[in-house]
Amino acid sequence: MNYFFKDPENIEPSNRDHIDCTMGEVVLPSGSMSFAYELEITERLVKYSSPWGDQELRQMFLTHVGACELTESNVFVTMGGKEALWFAFQLFVKPGDTVLLPIPYWPPYMHWVNLLGGKAIFYEVKGPNHTSQLLDSICNKQPDVVVLNSPHNPTGISIEKSVTVELVNLIENSATRIIVDQVYAGIDSQDYFLTSLLLMMSDWQRVCVVDSVSKRFAAAGLRVGFLISSQENISKALKFRALSSSCLPPITQCLAKHLLGNQSGLERLHQVRDFVGESRHSLVDALINAGAEVISSGTLYVWLRGTMHSIKLRENILIGEPGDRYGLPGHFRLCATGNPRLQTVLHAHRSSSES
Ligand SMILES: Cc1ncc(COP(=O)(O)O)c(C=O)c1O
Repeated sequence: MNYFFKDPENIEPSNRDHIDCTMGEVVLPSGSMSFAYELEITERLVKYSSPWGDQELRQMFLTHVGACELTESNVFVTMGGKEALWFAFQLFVKPGDTVLLPIPYWPPYMHWVNLLGGKAIFYEVKGPNHTSQLLDSICNKQPDVVVLNSPHNPTGISIEKSVTVELVNLIENSATRIIVDQVYAGIDSQDYFLTSLLLMMSDWQRVCVVDSVSKRFAAAGLRVGFLISSQENISKALKFRALSSSCLPPITQCLAKHLLGNQSGLERLHQVRDFVGESRHSLVDALINAGAEVISSGTLYVWLRGTMHSIKLRENILIGEPGDRYGLPGHFRLCATGNPRLQTVLHAHRSSSES
């Protein structure tokens, strides 16, 4: 899975006209990180920190996602959204459990289900009405665990807010446990409504919501994520932490507080929204002009049909992530925001279509 370790600035495909668009990251065009310059390094920042994560950071995060009814004891700071998800899978998936995953799926979901001895079953994420298929699958297949990923990687599609009540009723009347991955929320819209799933459920034992600063603040390298759940689940997650990393680096948590609580962080969030929206729209335009079969798009991604997982755009070849990795061969994903060279190509495209 080498695609997790690429540095988008330094990808040098052997062919200079090839642009690697596989990395799911936001690389902002300006190098400025004003939020980082405000950090005052003190002794405290090089000591062990609380294994739950910084208390003020947890409170700021709850305010950020509009979950003020919760307390810091319901939030655990993790090494990015990925660690939070791994903890959630360990909490909820037992050997023999059926786990309802979206297809296409983010590859680690499948690896975790297999590692934990679960059995993956699927609901298709396709077109705006996919949520009804999700509801039907929960109703008819009665899975032990459901994974919701909205906005969804790789298709960019979101679950409609209007189904939240129906979803909650369905889950309340079953024994299903639910993992909500909302790391791409807040980019296309300012809504974090999936956190409200947790608030609407009577039994928080059965819900884990996962989030992170990686995508919406273009800060994936900080490795700061969040797991929200019942106090009992959070206490169990604490045991996983005690056996692995002890605590998170205070320095990155301090930077995350700047992102969540300061004006400069808010400005960065707006910058990400503008940049992502403009890059993705330009890419979709350019792809459609080039005759590509675009199926859907949203947040950082464009999801296309095609077996070669690449497409020619002017004199460049854009290389995407093959659909096989997401359980759906014959498709591929392009990231509109991870490669600075793509921005130059899109800029040229915009200029020529304006003239
Ligand atoms: C669907 C999905 N969930 C979670 C993550 C994890 O994000 P991070 O660990 O960088 O916060 C990613 C990263 O690409 C993702 O695509």
